[in-house]
Amino acid sequence: MSEKTLYERLGGEDAIAAVVDEFYDRLLADETVAHFFEETDMQKQRAHQTAFLSAVAGGPGEYTGQDMETAHAHLEIDHHHFETIASHLGETLAAFDVGEDEREAVLEAVSSYEDEVVTVA
Ligand code: HEM
Repeated sequence: MSEKTLYERLGGEDAIAAVVDEFYDRLLADETVAHFFEETDMQKQRAHQTAFLSAVAGGPGEYTGQDMETAHAHLEIDHHHFETIASHLGETLAAFDVGEDEREAVLEAVSSYEDEVVTVA
C-alpha cells in the first residue's frame, strides 16, 4: 500500500502545528468563543491539539491528553459554538492552502466528536 495517510497529505506534524497555532490565534480573536479559553494554558493546548489532530489523521505519534468528553465536560459548549470552532478550523486550513479533499477529511474527522464535545442543547 503506497497510499498516503491524511497526516502525510497535510504535511506532517510541523505543518499541523502551524495550522493549530493560527487556528488558536483566530479563536482567541473571536469574542464568541475566546472566553472559553480564559483559564487555559494555551501553550499546552496548542501542543495537545497538534497531537490530537495528528493522531486522528493517522500520524505515528500518540495523543496522551484527556478524551474529548472529559476535556469539555466542564464547559457549556452548544452546537453553535461547535460550528464556529469547526469553521475557524476550515478557514485556517484554507489559509494554509490545504486542498479541499484534505480539508473535508479533517472536518469530517473533527465533526465525529461533536456529541462528546457539545455539552448543552
Ligand atoms: C471541534 C472539535 C474539537 C476538538 C477536536 C477539540 C480538541 C481538544 C483537545 C485535544 C483538548 C486538550 C485536552 C487536554 O489538554 O487534555 C481540548 C481542550 C479544550 N477545548 Fe476543545 N476541541 C474541540 C471543540 C471545542 C469547542 C467547540 C470548544 C469551545 C467552544 C472547545 C474548548 C476547549 C477548551 C476551553 C479546552 C481546554 C480546557 C481546559 O483548559 O481545561 N473545544 N479540546
